[in-house]
Amino acid sequence: MKRIAVFTSGGDSPGMNACIRAVVRTGIYRGLDVYGIYRGYEGMIEGEIKRMYSYSVSNIVQRGGTILKSARSLEFRTPEGRKKAYENLKSHGIEGLVAIGGDGTFTGAKVFFEEYGIPTVGCPGTIDNDIYGTDYTIGFDTAVNTALEAIDKIRDTAAAHDRIFFIEVMGRDAGFIAVECGIGGGAEFVMVPETKTDLKHVVKSLKNLRKTKTSSILVVAEGDDLGNAEEIMQQVKAQIKDPNKEFKVTTLGHIQRGGNPTAFDRVLASRCGMAAVEGLLEGKTNCMAGVVNKEVVYTPFGDCIGMPKPLIPDHLKLIDILSI
Ligand code: F6P
Repeated sequence: MKRIAVFTSGGDSPGMNACIRAVVRTGIYRGLDVYGIYRGYEGMIEGEIKRMYSYSVSNIVQRGGTILKSARSLEFRTPEGRKKAYENLKSHGIEGLVAIGGDGTFTGAKVFFEEYGIPTVGCPGTIDNDIYGTDYTIGFDTAVNTALEAIDKIRDTAAAHDRIFFIEVMGRDAGFIAVECGIGGGAEFVMVPETKTDLKHVVKSLKNLRKTKTSSILVVAEGDDLGNAEEIMQQVKAQIKDPNKEFKVTTLGHIQRGGNPTAFDRVLASRCGMAAVEGLLEGKTNCMAGVVNKEVVYTPFGDCIGMPKPLIPDHLKLIDILSI
């Protein structure tokens, strides 16, 4: 293998740049030509492919976002789109790929590898932490800390006005961010897609809590089964029926996706990026380089996207116990 390309795809996450840097520099260190593909699979289809050098990735290890840009490509889901992508890679002489992204990225990479056989190794880049085969995904730690900083600030004003705050964090299908923020932010409740939210229990507990606490923080993952934070707040408010109690909603949104990556994310990203290139050179393909129990582990894409990654049960219990 002489020439590889790297791209970022799906929702961006802090630390993707550190990962790109590690791929480019490891590749050059190992004597490879390294190319960058812009805008993920979209750029692969459009032929937005440029040679990268060591200096191309200077001064990015600390920056959020992705210098290669990202996209969610509908065209890549079609055989015609993937054919165009393959032809572009072929014309650039690309013999190996590093795909940085989440489950959508790896689903695309798996299909593409099965159709065209270009060796591909992935790096887990998503704030959601919902990828099997790695303890943490690149960007999760930063997103949690960003959300936590916001929750701390909301707590000040919640306490000052004796209000109940519903804070919505990202996570369409996974509650990892909500759970970690819930523990770190001292939330009274955390609502996540993985478990059924019992409205009656929430209402009863909030009523009980009012004997000991004047304000409360409820963290809601955007994909909770009862709806988003606004919808859940309305349901709770309707059942609490206390005209003196004020309910507020804050949706943290895309603020969680930006910002300088934490040290943890920079190190994780660097390790995964380097491992992806080393893996390609050792003949690995159709798999992701992640970190499990502090060791680099390669997991087939099929497992990364097909195996559920459960929340840590002790963490949910922790929130229940510590919120009394
Ligand atoms: O997958 C990462 C993520 O940030 C999710 O937590 C969120 O639901 C989604 O992306 C938002 O996507 P978009 O930026 O396309 O609105």
